[in-house]
Amino acid sequence: MELHECKTRAGPREFGPHDDLPREYREAATRMIQFHANSEIMGAYLERPFIRQSPSLDRKLAFSAKVQDEIGHGQLLYRAAESLGIKTREEMLDELANGEGKFLNCFHYPMTEWWETPMIAFFVDGAAMRRQATIKRTSWEPYAHAMDKICFEEGFHIKHGEHIMRELATGSRREQQLLQDAFEEWWPRILQFFGPTDDESTHHDFAAEVGLKTMSNDELRQAFLNAYLPKATEYGLEIPDEPRIREEDGRYVVEEDDLNWEEFWAVANNEYAGSHEQIGSRARAHDAVAWVRGTIAGESA
Ligand SMILES: [Fe+2]
Ligand SMILES: [Fe+2]
Repeated sequence: MELHECKTRAGPREFGPHDDLPREYREAATRMIQFHANSEIMGAYLERPFIRQSPSLDRKLAFSAKVQDEIGHGQLLYRAAESLGIKTREEMLDELANGEGKFLNCFHYPMTEWWETPMIAFFVDGAAMRRQATIKRTSWEPYAHAMDKICFEEGFHIKHGEHIMRELATGSRREQQLLQDAFEEWWPRILQFFGPTDDESTHHDFAAEVGLKTMSNDELRQAFLNAYLPKATEYGLEIPDEPRIREEDGRYVVEEDDLNWEEFWAVANNEYAGSHEQIGSRARAHDAVAWVRGTIAGESA
């Protein structure tokens, strides 16, 4: 199939493994799904310590279930990416461990304290849900199909994050202050979740033309702010003065110049100091189970 045909045919659940698609489409879809799969895995690494560190058995169980869900999402997505025929799941996992694989900016930063956990489980998962709900209509059918299961589980993750946030927001003054401190640290990163503004985004145009993406970064950021900024204030969080956010005709407008885009691009390219730490822990885990991969490969040979 020629690229122009691919563009004109773009629509909901249009393409599957049996379609003869141009390489440009298959590469763009692989890049997008691999990024998503990597992000699921790296997010799980940030939350994994809380299976032990959570303050109660219920919370430990919830984190244990959430981490398993996220790893499962990663695996489903590697399969969806693999079905494009560009890279195998093993190649993508190797790339993640050796520092070539790209993943979401928020998961490059360490998360060490309990009161930080709603920043991921409520705000970042909430932002992810905004994007993922639109991917149910992506043009690569196996990706859209994976989203049905993933979005169902993400709904629970957000409830879990909100429950922790509510507990801290209605707790002691110290807990409220710690929650506010965590929010101030994470808020600029959360605002950068959707990446740069549309005119700076390098991959958007093609991905939108062929129906891989159904909403732009700016539209997604707007939808997220409309839902989550009022939620934050409802829980007593004070929105930091910077980055400046103004309301205009019922829309929130973020002053892009107040965000650190230099740091964002360093993070995006795995060049930020924290990136090495997170990728290193993934690489060690990958090495630790090399014998399992070897055994499975040996058995199936
Ligand atoms: Fe997930
Ligand atoms: Fe999640």
